[in-house]
Order: sequence, then C-alpha cells, then structure tokens
Amino acid sequence: MFGQRTGYEKESQRVHIGFESGKATIEVIGPQIVNVFAPLHTEGHESRAVEQPNAAFEVCDVQVEERADHLEISTSELTVKVYDHFYVDFYDKAGAPLCLDYRGSRDPFLRRGNVSIAEGEGHEAMRTSGRHKIEILKKMDGGEKFYGLGDKTGPLNKRGYEYEMWNTDDPSPHVESHKALYKSIPFFITLQEASAFGIFFDNPFKTFFDLGKENSDYYYFGADDGNLDYYFIYGPDMKSVVSRYTGLTGRTPLPQLWTLGMHQSRWSYAPEARVLEVAKLFREHDVPLDAIHLDIDYMDGYRVFTWDGERFPDPKAMTDKLAEQGIKIVTIIDPGVKKDKGYGIFDEGLEKGYYATDRDGVTYVNTVWPGDSVYPDFSDEPVRRWWAGNQKIMTDDGVAGIWNDMNEPASFTGPLPDDVRFKNDGRETDHREIHNVYGHLMSRATFDGIKEATGKRPFVITRAAYAGTQKYSTVWTGDNQSFWEHLRLSIPMLLNLGLSGFAFAGCDVGGFSHDCTPELLVRWVQAGAFSPLFRNHTAIGTRDQEPWAFDETTLDAYRKAVKLRYKLLPYLYDLMREAEQTGLAPLRPLVLEFPDDPAAREVNDQFLLGSRILVAPVVEQGKTHRAVYLPQGTWIDYNSGESVEGGRTVLAEAPLDVCPIYVRAGSILPGYPDQKYVGERRIDELLLEVYPGEGGYTHTQDDGESYGYRDGAYNEYRFVQTGGRESVLELRLEKGHAGYGEAYRSFRVTVRGFAAASAKIGGEAVEFETENGNTVLRVPAEAGMLKLEA
Ligand code: GLC
Repeated sequence: MFGQRTGYEKESQRVHIGFESGKATIEVIGPQIVNVFAPLHTEGHESRAVEQPNAAFEVCDVQVEERADHLEISTSELTVKVYDHFYVDFYDKAGAPLCLDYRGSRDPFLRRGNVSIAEGEGHEAMRTSGRHKIEILKKMDGGEKFYGLGDKTGPLNKRGYEYEMWNTDDPSPHVESHKALYKSIPFFITLQEASAFGIFFDNPFKTFFDLGKENSDYYYFGADDGNLDYYFIYGPDMKSVVSRYTGLTGRTPLPQLWTLGMHQSRWSYAPEARVLEVAKLFREHDVPLDAIHLDIDYMDGYRVFTWDGERFPDPKAMTDKLAEQGIKIVTIIDPGVKKDKGYGIFDEGLEKGYYATDRDGVTYVNTVWPGDSVYPDFSDEPVRRWWAGNQKIMTDDGVAGIWNDMNEPASFTGPLPDDVRFKNDGRETDHREIHNVYGHLMSRATFDGIKEATGKRPFVITRAAYAGTQKYSTVWTGDNQSFWEHLRLSIPMLLNLGLSGFAFAGCDVGGFSHDCTPELLVRWVQAGAFSPLFRNHTAIGTRDQEPWAFDETTLDAYRKAVKLRYKLLPYLYDLMREAEQTGLAPLRPLVLEFPDDPAAREVNDQFLLGSRILVAPVVEQGKTHRAVYLPQGTWIDYNSGESVEGGRTVLAEAPLDVCPIYVRAGSILPGYPDQKYVGERRIDELLLEVYPGEGGYTHTQDDGESYGYRDGAYNEYRFVQTGGRESVLELRLEKGHAGYGEAYRSFRVTVRGFAAASAKIGGEAVEFETENGNTVLRVPAEAGMLKLEA
C-alpha cells in the first residue's frame, strides 16, 4: 500500500515518514509506548479513547538514524525499525526482537471439502476471513499467548481464535462462536516467554482480530475504514502493559464504597410496593444489600427520564423510605427516546436537532422498548451536555446511580443502517464510525451529569463500551443465561475485561435468561462475591432468583457468600484505589501475578482477588470438591486454616456452602465487621486478618463517597509482619497520612494458624485469646509494634 520510503522529518517525538504512495508517523508517547499512524481516513488522530492532553505522554529522548534499508527510531527502552511498505519492527534495548511485521505469504490452515452441503443443513460454514482495507500482520514465534479484547467469549488465552469489534446485542446464548458482543475493546496483550507487550488498535470502525486462527505463523488485526492507528505498549511484564495502556486510555476512578456492596435487580420490579417488599425481605433474611435496580418497568411507557405515575406515584418518597433502610436505587436509562409529540424530552431534542438523522437529514427512527424511537447523537458535545443535564431529573428523585443499556446501539428491527448521520463534534460522519463509541459517549455524558448534579463519585453501569469507557462507567457482561456454562464463561470474560482496563465489572449473578436452579445460584453468588460489580439480575418471566427464592439451605449459603463479600469490602476498596493509581483490576488471572509459572498462563476457572486471595469457585453441577492449581508459595486454606504448599494442584473440599479460597502466606487483610449495608454505622474497629509470613499491607480509609480523598481527606495505615512462620511474629502498625476525621479507634487482629503464648505491644503485655489455633486480640489504632510469641 505504501511503497518505498522516500524520506523523513523529525518533529520533537514524532517522526513523519514519506512513502511513494502515502505517509505515516511514528510517535514516541514515552520510552515504552510508540504510536504507529497513517492518515487513511483523517489527517490526525480522532480518538474517543485517548483524551487530550494525553496523560501517558512522557517527554523523552528520541534518536533517529537512517540505515541501509530502514529507518531506526530509538528510545531508552525500544528500537523501532521502519522499512519500505511501512513494515514496522520493534526490538528491546538489547536488540532482541519483540514484535515483527509478518512478510511471508498468507497460507490459511487447510480446509477440505465443499462447505455448501453443510450449509444446506444450516451449519455455519467455516470460511477463511475476508481481507480488509487495513491489515497489520505480526509474526508469531510459537509460544505466544494472547489476553485482553474485553469480554469476548471463549477461553482466557485467545490464541487460535478470531474476533470482531462491533458492539452487538445478540440475545442467543453467549458461546465461543460469537465473534462480537456488546463491547469493543481493541486492545490485546501478547505474552511471550520472556516479555509481554500490548497492541491497542484505536480504530472505532468495525475491526477484526485473528490471533493465529488463519495460520499459526502470524496474527493480525484489521479494519475496513478509519486510520491505521495503533499503539505498541511494551512491558516487559504484563502488569506494566496494563498500567501503560490504562495510562493512555484512562483508569477506573475510585467508586463510592456502597457501589461495591450487593445489588439486587430483576426486570419487573414494580410497582413501588414490590420494591419495598424486596428491600424488606433482604433485611428480614439478614442478607446484606446496598442497592436495588429498577429496570424499564419504572418508566411511563418506556419514556426515559420519566416515572410511571401509577406504579411509582412518589419516587422521591420511595427513595427516601429506602434510604432509611440503607438501600439505594439505580435506574435504567436506555438511549432510545420515544417518538412522541408532547413528551418533553423528545420535543426538546427534536427542536434542537439532537438526534441522529438519515442521509437526508431527517431524524432517524427505529424501534426499541417504547416503540418508534429516536437516537440521541452522543457524538456531539451539545447533545452530551443535554443528556448530562437530564441526569438531574433522576438524581433529584433520589436515584443514586444510572444503568445505561441498549446502547450498542440496539434496535428491534435490524441494525442501524451504515449511512445514519452523526455530527461527531464538528466532523460529520456516519454510523460505521460512531457505532462502537456510541455507548462510550453516552456513559461519558451520564458520568458528567451525575457528577455535576451530586458532586459525588458517579455510579454508572453500561452494557456497550469502547476502549477507555472505564473512566466513566462500570460494565456488566450483558444477557447471559442461567447455565453452568455461563458461570464458567464469566471467569475468563471478567478476567480479560480487567486486563483490558475495566477494573469495575461484573456479570448477572444467577444468569439473566432461563431459570436458575438453587445450586447454580449458590455457586454463582460464591464466585460473584469477588467481582467488583456484584449484582443478581434476571429477566422478566424467569423463575425468582432472590436469595430466599428456594429453600433454607440456599438462603444460608447465599447469605454466607454475601457476608464474606461485606467483610472483604475494605480490601476490595483498597484494590479499587490501586486500580485508580495503576490500572490493575481487582480481579486478576493467575498469569498476571505469576508470569514465570507456565502452569498459571491458562487457568480459566480460578482467579485472584488482588495479589493475595486465590478463588477457585465450583462451576459444575453436583460437585462438592474440585482441583485447584496453587502457584508456588505457601497458601492458607481460608476455610480450614490449613497451610498448603503451592506449585501443584490440590483437591479442595467444597460442600455447597463452601467456595475454595486460599490466601497467600504473609498477607494481611483488612475486614469490616458484619453490616447490613455500607454505612450502617461508623466503623470504629477494623478487622485485620494476619496470615503468618513476611509481608506488608497499606490500607486507606475515607468517607467513601466524595472526592475529598483527592485533596488529602483520607487516612493511611501501613502494616508489616515479619517472622510469623517462626515462633515469634512481629506486626508493626504505622500511621501514614492522617486527613480523615473518623479514624479507626482500634484493630481487631486475628493471626491465623498462630497460637500465641504471650502478646506485647511496645513491651507491655496485652490481653489475647486463642480460638481454633488462631490468636485474637484488640489493639489501639496507634502506631506500634505487636509481638507475639508462640
Ligand atoms: C436488556 C438488558 C437487560 C435488561 C433488559 C430490559 O436485555 O441487557 O439487563 O433487563 O434489556 O431492560
């Protein structure tokens, strides 16, 4: 496409390169991040993911040298070699190849026979993918594994599969052959033996990813339109890749603490009396709960920003009543605005020209829940401002968060045609370019509106997303089904979402469509209790799925899982803070924490919460034990207290009410005492669970809702333990930053698997108890040294 190189020009960290037919730019974003660009659609970047000024940009030294057959561009960490035809190769600073363009021939894996006979019976014929206007082929060495790409179906490692990025609402059960689902996150990580790097193909059009399906000599990504615009993001470790990628596209901001609590949802919670009943039953059954979600049933004829006056006569009075019980309301808002003269939102948008149009400029109409509906043009700033302003209608009624759905955008009568027009902030374009960022821009408007209206950290959930949506919204994986297979699938989906920058994510616990069984519900809630977004949601007409829907055994096991979640809230909250700072999601695949362990690279049915807790949920019906792979190190079985050596697979006992959980020796985990909801009472005493070994932990505490922490309104505590595997355990408590008034007064320390004979703080004896081989004691929340002797 480009032909031979003709010359180059360096402009600070950019190198503009001329070719016989075309031009390109290599831009050094930082020593480990390089952008590769050719203006095939617009002169410059038109990114909805990377906002300007680009926070990842680092001023650094860039050397350019003309070599015999290539141009060499070097940073302190990378060398980029650019050849004729715009072949681009990346090397590390020692000269080892990292990522090379593939120059060989394209020989797809053999397929035999005539597929039309199979198609006759209705099978989807496997054909070799089409070729695209833009295609970047990268050489495969053999050992690569691939991660990321958002929440695609299939296993954690994407090697050997192909995917498409085209936000799709497909109600059929999510299976491995789905190439596209609701989100488009055109970012993947390539893990090689010695290093990892990421590629972010920032092209909002439909994009294609083939990670060795066509042939195992190469992998490729492509698009039929848009710019050639991708970032090479070097590690060398996976954590650094994720951190740099999220530096570029943005990080999940610290959410309000209550949003990490349990959410209950069901399409059909109406009228108000039913909502109040659900709230009451949670309290009666002693299952903690922070939020109830109202699906489309609360609206007046599915008109967004309205309430059904009969079913919900006084929304503010209802949210007030629920607030007294510590329960927040989250309402769904879809993009489709009912085409209905006299309905204020529709009229205002029409008058101001806020809707997408057909190519003749006539407002485009399709069908969604309200019937004939129009689509706000979120690609235009005035429309985003308008939509942001509308959030106040809901927050004034006491609504605490907004759930954005159907924003792929979805419709009932086929996809939006390619030629639907969008204003696109001054550079008009069509649906092909906006489709994948539509939900992203809607979430951004929603986030901004809630922030303005409440001043608090907004809570937004979205189904459709693009790279970077993590800055504005949490996500869920859409309409799964109450299948064991979908419980299993949710693990790699959520892990890859996390690696793709989405730190705050979850799935419909219990499954959306289909009928959940009591056993599936228990196993799902046990797994879901560890995902940052923890919401039980199901479809209208399905069997009841609340914790009490079945029997006492189910209810007891459900309650136990949710109580564990509430105990772990300060740990999860600390992890969300880490996510804001580093981009690393709380939910992590084993490979992220144990990159040197080959056995950790393809674990699909286990995950880590942070770096300290390993969870191996039961994901098969009828199982009361399961194999668990424990990476190297000492682990403590959370349920039995037993210490287990890793580097091997163990058999875990898992009767219905037990989810196998292992904690790394040396961990210190903060916990909250029992609560029905976040903020039920002031937490004066933090629980500290100490798993003997060597290690430290930093915990922060703040008001859990405002932005005050950004101005220093938080307290920081640091705990360090040493020697615990010997006969003396020392735990040092340090107070770091002190900026939040409601500081803890004490810590209740439980040292697991360590029966002390004496306990001292700063040389003074303190009272303690030993229970089941653990030592339990209360210490003041002051700096000092606790010394236990066995
Ligand atoms: C979509 C959503 C689902 C919601 C339903 C009704 O299917 O994915 O969560 O319950 O619409 O609003």
